[in-house]
Amino acid sequence: MIKLTGLVKRYPGRAVGANAVDGIDLEVGEGKLTTLLGPSGCGKTTTLRLIAGLERADAGTVEIGGQVVSDPARGIFIGPHRRPIGIVFQSYAIWPHMTVVENVMFPLKVSRPRPRKGEARKRALEALDAVGLADFAERPAPALSGGQQQRVALARALVREPKVLLLDEPLSNLDKGLRGRMRDEIRAVQQRLGITTVFVTHDQDEALAVSDDVVVMNGGHVVERGIPHAIYTYPRDMFTARFLGVSNSLDGVVESVGPEGATVSFGKRSMLCSQCEAIEAGQTVSVFMRPESFKLSRRQHSDEAWPGTIEFSIYHGDCWDYHVRLGDDLLKVRVYREKVGLEHGDLVFLEPDPDSAIVMPAATGMAATPAEVPATT
Ligand SMILES: Nc1ncnc2c1ncn2[C@@H]1O[C@H](COP(=O)(O)OP(=O)(O)OP(=O)(O)O)[C@@H](O)[C@H]1O
Ligand SMILES: [Mg+2]
Repeated sequence: MIKLTGLVKRYPGRAVGANAVDGIDLEVGEGKLTTLLGPSGCGKTTTLRLIAGLERADAGTVEIGGQVVSDPARGIFIGPHRRPIGIVFQSYAIWPHMTVVENVMFPLKVSRPRPRKGEARKRALEALDAVGLADFAERPAPALSGGQQQRVALARALVREPKVLLLDEPLSNLDKGLRGRMRDEIRAVQQRLGITTVFVTHDQDEALAVSDDVVVMNGGHVVERGIPHAIYTYPRDMFTARFLGVSNSLDGVVESVGPEGATVSFGKRSMLCSQCEAIEAGQTVSVFMRPESFKLSRRQHSDEAWPGTIEFSIYHGDCWDYHVRLGDDLLKVRVYREKVGLEHGDLVFLEPDPDSAIVMPAATGMAATPAEVPATT
């Protein structure tokens, strides 16, 4: 539905080599919600604005629904109003002097061909109904809560019945509880209408929760792409692993590889890593572990358990993070039980989960992923 090929954007005045978008190839499937996820400044908004036609690319093509809407090499540029898109920004930009329904009708007034007034109103009411705001049509727009205003912005983006919905951090102005509810609503509306959607966020939880596909970006590039489960469980790149909260990394050497997996040793400690297809004995590797991938106990239940001492703990409401010192390494371990009552200096034993270890050759930063991980495109 959307196809970006070799897309490059450099803002005027920026140094050569400092491209905001630096050669992006990307396809977004029909009816799918694809998320662009990455840190501030990685080029997410710029990519979205290039799809919308709010920026002009320096090179590369943008296709929407099989039509090339931008190709500077051939002098093609179709303006934003003539692209089949609806867009919602972080600041939802509701017109304060209009009612809710007038806000939603507004894009129809400027679209070509312009529908008749009765028709425009009918379509605006349908869009409001789709976002659950049919009863609020005649209210002055400012007399709505933040979440409701964001839904008006969504209805306004949907009113032209676009083929593509573009959402740029639409939830970041909302408080935490409302964010979660709005996130679910956006996903519900998107699935109900089956509308192809590109959703921009720097929040990994949000990205994993709503997406069919997650595209991880850094420095104007696509780092990797996959379904949420694959990106979360087996990131193929160190950047993704760290960005998705894999906070523990241990440098080690592969001792042996057998049917059960690879045994990696870290000085006196060692562990079995079951997911390790392209790994060979003798190789230097980094093993990444999530905080929840360890069993922590006061007593030693197995000879392989690693002894360590508690440095400090952090309480999160539903879990505790214990920072455990093992020689030179400090590991973060998450425990979803009542407070185990551990304090600074207490001796504990850690058992790492062999299935959760992500092994990457130390030099390249690319993961050795199991063959059955769903393919990235
Ligand atoms: N109008 C502009 N003029 C010059 N440079 C810009 C402009 N807009 C963005 N940039 C630069 O381009 C790069 C990419 O910016 P972009 O807004 O696409 O990032 P982003 O991923 O959306 O970040 P954030 O999460 O902070 O919104 C950044 O280095 C930014 O400073
Ligand atoms: Mg942005």
